[in-house]
Amino acid sequence: MPPTKVILDMDVGVDDALAILLALRSPELDILGITAVAGNAPLSMTANNVLRVLEAAGAPEIPVARGAARPLTREPEAALHVHGNDGLGGAPVPQPSRLTFDDRPAAAFISDIVMAHEPGEITLIPTGPMTNVAHLLREAPQTAARLNRIVLMGGAFALTPYGFGNVTSVSEFNIWADPEAAAELFASGMDITAVGLDVTTDPTGSINAERHEILRRSADPSAQIAATVSAQVLERYGVVNLHDPLAVTSVIDPTLIQTQRYPVEVITVDGSTRGQTIADRRARRRSDSPNAAVATAVDGPRFLDLIFSRLTQRA
Ligand code: BDR
Ligand code: CA
Repeated sequence: MPPTKVILDMDVGVDDALAILLALRSPELDILGITAVAGNAPLSMTANNVLRVLEAAGAPEIPVARGAARPLTREPEAALHVHGNDGLGGAPVPQPSRLTFDDRPAAAFISDIVMAHEPGEITLIPTGPMTNVAHLLREAPQTAARLNRIVLMGGAFALTPYGFGNVTSVSEFNIWADPEAAAELFASGMDITAVGLDVTTDPTGSINAERHEILRRSADPSAQIAATVSAQVLERYGVVNLHDPLAVTSVIDPTLIQTQRYPVEVITVDGSTRGQTIADRRARRRSDSPNAAVATAVDGPRFLDLIFSRLTQRA
């Protein structure tokens, strides 16, 4: 099988960084480019962090474009309390020697790449707020329709014991940060797979202290980056959830997650339900109008095996 051509759209971000490291080590993927969006940190930081991680991982040649510095209609609200003052957990990942980005904004960058390929050839993996994707849908809807599919990290669907929110009791960060953008995406008719907190916070697929030690002790440069970037999160929360790596993994090996199709509604009103993603479980609605495949289970041990085997292979 030829590798799947992918574009990563991210707000790097501790777990976004791990997702890049994993993608770079995965022969099943051909990374055509990475686009940055504001989310975990301001755009200047998330874009710079893409360059930092790529260079540290020995892949400075991958094209990077900057996207939206703010959500469609709201003020940006970063999550530096989770991801550290630099968005990368304060890790000693050097500043990049290259400080150049593609001239085009993310939506145009993605659109040009998609148009240069056959319809259905490219998979987009958004692991930050959906703002860049919404701009793509608004500015180049015909191009967006040429995407193979969108596999996103986002949402909390109340479909597993872990499917509750991480910003409010019901809202996941990527959707909460720009609910209007997410609502446009879920209403777009595109082929969407949503990998949400229901599966990404399953403890069987998360890094605990013992597993972190394996990364820390590995001589592989990718394991070293992963260990240092995630150390602060581990110290603060006692666990490192692999949200964004799981979205990437479900493109590498779709058998690692189970999905079910639902009509998904994104709540855009202010208050504690802002950014809630409601999967309508009523049988009639499910068969009539599903708009996304939502992840309902993950094979945690096999997922961790895949990540660890790839990040520690040069030990
Ligand atoms: C998502 O939000 C960000 O903090 C993480 O990078 C992940 O994409 C988890 O809610
Ligand atoms: Ca992210």
